[in-house]
Amino acid sequence: MRQQLEQMQKDALAALAGVTTEEQLQALKVRFLGKKGELTSIMKGIGALSSDERPVIGQVVNSVRDCLEESFATCAATLKASLKKAKLQNERIDVTLPGRRSPRGTKHPVTLVVEEICDIFSGLGFLVAEGPEIELDYYNFEALNFPKDHPARDMQDTFFVQDNLLLRTHTSPVQIRTMLQQQPPVRIIAPGTVYRCDYDATHSPMFHQIEGLMVDKGITFGDLKGILTIFTNQMFGNDIGVRLRPSFFPFTEPSAEVDIACVICRGKGCRVCKNSGWLEILGAGMVDPEVFRHVGYDAEKVNGFAFGMGIERVAMLKYGINDMRLLFENDVRFLSQF
Ligand code: PHE
Repeated sequence: MRQQLEQMQKDALAALAGVTTEEQLQALKVRFLGKKGELTSIMKGIGALSSDERPVIGQVVNSVRDCLEESFATCAATLKASLKKAKLQNERIDVTLPGRRSPRGTKHPVTLVVEEICDIFSGLGFLVAEGPEIELDYYNFEALNFPKDHPARDMQDTFFVQDNLLLRTHTSPVQIRTMLQQQPPVRIIAPGTVYRCDYDATHSPMFHQIEGLMVDKGITFGDLKGILTIFTNQMFGNDIGVRLRPSFFPFTEPSAEVDIACVICRGKGCRVCKNSGWLEILGAGMVDPEVFRHVGYDAEKVNGFAFGMGIERVAMLKYGINDMRLLFENDVRFLSQF
């Protein structure tokens, strides 16, 4: 029986040496030390021993059990430590690796131009004003001296929402809304989205304008030209030529269209300016007394000027963009260049 026990101990130790997983270890424990394990089945023979042999074998059983229990415990501890080490190794994070950057957007050229124009006019004492894009006929036309059935309404192919409600065709209604809310002096700049039923290479049904309005005592056409010259110089460079041509708008009198020297050929004549040397950038004029009447200003006491320009047009000239649709397609490869 002693031999049996010693052989079992040897077998167990040998098996233990090859253990690599906790499952194997558990299985060996059951096999050698479990209730129905080898040690138990050997011990069943103890009853048949003589009373002399029993205590001796009993001691051997105890020492074999102690030895095996200790070995199993050591093996379990080693296994646990090596599993932990392997886990740490696998889950290692290199905190010194540079992070992954998420791509950063850039401002749209239309936004850049709006911001730049607002900056220039802020420097001249103008405040930024806003108005709704869905507008009443009254503010978009009537108060701006476009009477009903006036042919000038046709120039601005209007999207109507209801009879008296429309998508504003220009930013000029902000002039009316501002003057109804405050007394002169007024100095505002109003950027915004406008809509016209028009679509080709140089027209989009939705585009952006920026409106300017200055009202005070003794404002002259000279002030208008001076402010616009300061603006074009800052926007397009100090030596850019400016030219005013007579024009017509129902809400200004006299009215002018303002050209800058072609940014491509600087006035020599090229394809962009159709050989004229000039590019139109805005409409302007002295506020018509009829408009002042609508907002309750005394046209005998104050006067003023207004102007309006297309942002996309300014952006195209400033950045040399030859197709307006590029500004609306929003291809990031195009937009990220600005
Ligand atoms: N609102 C005019 C347009 O859209 C532009 C303009 C504004 C003209 C202010 C004169 C004064 O065509």
